[in-house]
Amino acid sequence: MASSGDTSPVVLVEKLRLSANGRPLVELERWEIPAGERVAIVGPSGSGKTTFLQTLAGLRLADEGRVVVCGRDLARMSEAQRDVFRGRHIGFVHQTLHLVRSLSVLDNLRLAAFVVGNRVADQRLLHLLASVGLEDRANSSTIDLSHGEAQRVAIARALVNEPRLVLADEPTSALDDGNARAILELLLKVAADRGAALVVATHDSRLIGSFDRRLALGVER
Ligand SMILES: Nc1ncnc2c1ncn2[C@@H]1O[C@H](COP(=O)(O)OP(=O)(O)O)[C@@H](O)[C@H]1O
Ligand SMILES: [Mg+2]
Repeated sequence: MASSGDTSPVVLVEKLRLSANGRPLVELERWEIPAGERVAIVGPSGSGKTTFLQTLAGLRLADEGRVVVCGRDLARMSEAQRDVFRGRHIGFVHQTLHLVRSLSVLDNLRLAAFVVGNRVADQRLLHLLASVGLEDRANSSTIDLSHGEAQRVAIARALVNEPRLVLADEPTSALDDGNARAILELLLKVAADRGAALVVATHDSRLIGSFDRRLALGVER
């Protein structure tokens, strides 16, 4: 949990400009996410939602401006430093999940800890799997999972290193109404339980009401 005395924002964006193929996508003078806040990034396909999330994660750098996460300016790190920083402080649920297909569910979680040199007891990983409703799937091959189950594994994996920032890119786009609602509620709950800020890119209007705030990109601006 974030300590109650720490009022610094998890994310601070200043004078940010992102563009693709010469077309401006995102311009933000100043934008902050306090600890524990839930933000929806909305906008039509092609409006820059994925690009913006990748920028918050330091997977790409801004054309102009600063992105500061947990007090660290992402542009002032080497690529290797950014990789470790991301692994430790940012959980990313990618749209295409990026699970390692040759590994079991539990090994996918172990790997997330291992790559950043974090030691996490299996007991805690199993507890995490239980929190996403997959306690009986630890030793399953990821190939055998349904899409909804794989989505849950990706969420659990994003939380392994107890990030202060969780980013999810269209986590409900491939799900029907019931499963979309369940996955979103799960994300909101697991982030809240840990005091993590949550940023979800979505064009799913079914879900917008569940967030504290939204940022509209593209034509909805
Ligand atoms: N790797 C890339 N190279 C060039 N253009 C890209 C790349 N990724 C995305 N774009 C362009 O950036 C714009 C925003 O894309 P994206 O961030 O994926 O939007 P969204 O997630 O809202 O659908 C689009 O016009 C897309 O064509
Ligand atoms: Mg996208």
